[in-house]
Amino acid sequence: MPQETPILRPYREEDFESLRQAVGVVSRERKYLSFLDTPPLEAARAYVQECTERGDPRYVLAHAGAVVGWCDLTRFSDREVFRHRAVLGMGLLPGWRDKGHGLPLIEATIAAGWQVGYRRIELIVRADNLRAIALYRKVGFQEEGVSRGAFLVDGVAHDDVRMALLAPIQLGDLTQPR
Ligand SMILES: CC(C)(COP(=O)(O)OP(=O)(O)OC[C@H]1O[C@@H](n2cnc3c(N)ncnc32)[C@H](O)[C@@H]1OP(=O)(O)O)[C@@H](O)C(=O)NCCC(=O)NCCS
Repeated sequence: MPQETPILRPYREEDFESLRQAVGVVSRERKYLSFLDTPPLEAARAYVQECTERGDPRYVLAHAGAVVGWCDLTRFSDREVFRHRAVLGMGLLPGWRDKGHGLPLIEATIAAGWQVGYRRIELIVRADNLRAIALYRKVGFQEEGVSRGAFLVDGVAHDDVRMALLAPIQLGDLTQPR
């Protein structure tokens, strides 16, 4: 089990391949993400580039030059009425979990999300992922519903839980979000 403290920092372009591989490791566990393997190179590159150009926050936990965790926001939709909504995704490599690293990672990402103008952060989590749900509740996410049988993995259906966090009320909320 690694004992060292990883570095929490914004994603940089040179993290791309290490991040993609980390997503692959967690995906192949087949328990947590909607990917089941490493995201395809070109699609992943295009997705990250689009998010980066839009200014969507993405943080990583790095250790010894490699990404060991990530948390990011992706705009839900470009339609004007939905532009204030961002979808959160995160993960830590096995061995880096259950040590409290998830909390600063998600807190930094949420704070950056409000900073860039998002007013609602939402996510989908498998209902059996109690550790992730505990972390999301801890930072203020509330359950908004359950989609029954939403994940189908190896022929087994799993419910998902939809959760969301609204930005703290500010004077700026009285105007239309950017
Ligand atoms: C989910 C994840 C990001 C959480 O980060 P973490 O650093 O491991 O979690 P933390 O150490 O911050 O602990 C989260 C909380 O969940 C609690 N918890 C852990 N296992 C739990 C369980 N089975 N049931 C209920 N609560 C649990 C912990 O006690 C902790 O609360 P506390 O700080 O009040 O004690 C990380 O475990 C992970 O990447 N998991 C695999 C990938 C994944 O699930 N990604 C999210 C997909 S939606």
